[in-house]
Amino acid sequence: MRIDSLNTIFPSFVLQGFANEMSPAENAELSALAWETWKANEKTETTYSANESGEYYSATRHNMLVLFRDKPVVKKFAILADMMARAYLKTVYHYDCRDPIDMMAEPFCQNRETGTDGIMPHAHTLKPLLVTYYPSVKTSKRTVAGPTSSGVNGETNFYDPSNTGKRVWPNQNPSFHIGSSFRVKAEEGTILAFEGHIPHDSAQFDGDERVCIPVICYPKLPNKNLGTTLDKIL
Ligand SMILES: [Fe+2]
Repeated sequence: MRIDSLNTIFPSFVLQGFANEMSPAENAELSALAWETWKANEKTETTYSANESGEYYSATRHNMLVLFRDKPVVKKFAILADMMARAYLKTVYHYDCRDPIDMMAEPFCQNRETGTDGIMPHAHTLKPLLVTYYPSVKTSKRTVAGPTSSGVNGETNFYDPSNTGKRVWPNQNPSFHIGSSFRVKAEEGTILAFEGHIPHDSAQFDGDERVCIPVICYPKLPNKNLGTTLDKIL
């Protein structure tokens, strides 16, 4: 018998990196700006209709990259997010994207004052690509009694969208994570990229502060949409 090839269908990828070009002072400034936008754009019923996508997953009513475009640290962060999105396309698909990437950033901030609730598992099905950056993760100095809860350190969990992660035989291929979920423990400087259809959460957080800046990325490719609406057909 001849084995010809190995193909993977419906893959899920999480690209993880570290932004060593961001100094602690820059991360602190970025965190402060994230908090400012987070507090100014809290989700309310009255602003719900302004949601960019109509999806109830976050306060997507502003773009931090536009609001603070005059700040050098935001310009630097935008370059970083753009680089990470392109790195994802290059690493996963060997695609060297030269087209512009449309970016919208909406911070998600947690601390003891404002509450530590996480975000339940969800996906951004209409978003092609997400880059998330963590300018501040301060875990708890407290001693947590008993077994620690899953989100005590502010992890982000990714879930197998097909729910077929378990196998009856052992996985000895280091290229693949076998399991129903994959957990990333973010620290200051962690940067991630993944596709919008991958279910994920931001677990409940028991630390002192966790600032996450997700950037929704749309590569603006020269693809044509040939769809039309009923009134134009009639
Ligand atoms: Fe999300």
